[in-house]
Amino acid sequence: MCGIVALTLKEGNASPLLHSALKRLEYRGYDSAGIATLYGEKIFVKKDAGKIDEIHARLNFDNMPGSVGVSHTRWSTHGAPTRENAHPHLDCKNTVAVVHNGVIENFLELKEELMDRGHRFVSRTDTEVISHLVEEGLDAGENLYNATVNALRRLRGSYALAIISTREPNKIVCARNESPLVLGLSDSGTFCASDIPAILPYTNKIIILNNGELAVLEADNIIIKRISDGVTLSREAKVIEWSIEQAEKQGYPHFMLKEIHEQPTSLRNALRLQEQYLDLITTFLDRGEKIFLLAAGTSHYACIAASYMFSKLARLATYPVVSSEFIENYGDSIGIDTVVLAVSQSGETYDTLKAVDYARMRAATILGITNVVGSTLTRVSRAYIVQQSGPEIGVAATKSYTAQVLVLAQLALKLAKMRGKLSQDEIDEVKASLQRIPETVENILEKREEKVKELARKYAKEKTFLFLGRGISTATALEGRLKLLEISYKPSLAYPAGESKHGPISVVEDGTPTIFICPNDETRKDIIGNMMEMKARGAKIISLCEEGDQKIADLSDDIIEVPKVHPILSPIPYIIPLQLLAYYIAVENGLDPDKPRNLAKSVTVP
Ligand code: AGP
Repeated sequence: MCGIVALTLKEGNASPLLHSALKRLEYRGYDSAGIATLYGEKIFVKKDAGKIDEIHARLNFDNMPGSVGVSHTRWSTHGAPTRENAHPHLDCKNTVAVVHNGVIENFLELKEELMDRGHRFVSRTDTEVISHLVEEGLDAGENLYNATVNALRRLRGSYALAIISTREPNKIVCARNESPLVLGLSDSGTFCASDIPAILPYTNKIIILNNGELAVLEADNIIIKRISDGVTLSREAKVIEWSIEQAEKQGYPHFMLKEIHEQPTSLRNALRLQEQYLDLITTFLDRGEKIFLLAAGTSHYACIAASYMFSKLARLATYPVVSSEFIENYGDSIGIDTVVLAVSQSGETYDTLKAVDYARMRAATILGITNVVGSTLTRVSRAYIVQQSGPEIGVAATKSYTAQVLVLAQLALKLAKMRGKLSQDEIDEVKASLQRIPETVENILEKREEKVKELARKYAKEKTFLFLGRGISTATALEGRLKLLEISYKPSLAYPAGESKHGPISVVEDGTPTIFICPNDETRKDIIGNMMEMKARGAKIISLCEEGDQKIADLSDDIIEVPKVHPILSPIPYIIPLQLLAYYIAVENGLDPDKPRNLAKSVTVP
């Protein structure tokens, strides 16, 4: 995701400190950067696409005048990585500069409204609407604080933002809704940033801004207010003892655990996709005679889950295919009637891009779902969706997987509606459960992490595990196994539970940990039979089941309960305990979950 830093000093220039602060945000991933400073009734801006060092070599970030400034590293979600789309964004009169991290859901309607009132836009970003809204407030005689509050009340979505204006040159107004924002204070000035590492060298006196709060920063003072009613809040600064590296993980021991815990936010962002992109993809899918879901690794398991969703919701058969096998397996059947939906977090996976190129050559329609704007997959796709998960640093995919499944679920539901395959009540039921997914995941993280840690300690030394599910839970079993296998190196099995007696059951010995994924869906009765057959052979039964499912609990040696969710969406909540289990087993065995041996985050070679 994007990173923001703003600061106001009692003396000296802001830009060198902003420049080095941006460098400390590089680990978050970005594709453009910029700084704006205020001096003598004028705003100075230097920004461009590319890495900070390249931009600095071209434009020199360190010689900008003024002791107040805002800065930004951009992880593109709306609009490609270009100079025009880089932050900071200005208003029509260059009197307001804004930097923003988050997703403004209703930016298109705001942009049209502002353009109708004569505002001129220079970027394709959602953020730019904020600078023009604030400009209108200032023009109406409001001060920067009130102009900002009134602008915020028009926004729907997530934001961490910082605003400066020539109208009140010694102030910074910053605000937060969901996207993180911290404040810092020192004898030399005050600071705000997306996270602590950016400003830790300047101060370790940190205040965490909460959702719905705003702060007015002056060089010697910070005032915090509640956006909703303007009440001033008093907040003690905490002294942070972290190192920079610890701070990059926001106190988590590893990026993987931080990213597992980021899923409520990344899932909320995956629910804030622009409708027109979802509609476009759905229209192409609806026209397809043959539809292949192309991916590798974890993304392939998201596609397996999606194939159940497309079939059960939209009555549409789709074929999830491992990218590296696509050409051999289906190459000769590809034609103009084929639609390929490629799913790739990085958008750079060699096997997936090779298969996509082959399908394109045979006139297939290429669609994409990725986490990286400007990636190769976005350039070769007829239409694509960016899932907005923010950068995923850990090699093991976690938040990107659940976001992929959520995007695919939204497509399947839209397709069901377009094809008239579900009643309005059925659509509403799925949609309501979809909207509750982020809080369901939040609930699991809060309530079940300790239980999973306990299970990790209990089973950490086991040599191999079985992961079994039926129906859509087969995808969860496969992904849960991959998580454990890739970061703790335990050769484990995962397959549809009905397959046990066709061979795999021969590996079960006394005490073999066998993980069953059994949501309360139509497969539950059969999976109970599978549990009994494993139990009869001495397996240790670890079950993931719906809260209160006493029958499953009675059959299991250990259970992890999951809140009730629509069965078609179960792959999202049910993978959370398995992500945590894989993580804690790896840590129990002294391994580094962020950097598993032999693996890279993006496999860009054959
Ligand atoms: C998953 O934890 C692995 N990192 C790996 O299987 C990954 O999902 C696979 O390489 C596909 O990557 P992509 O989504 O970037 O295409």
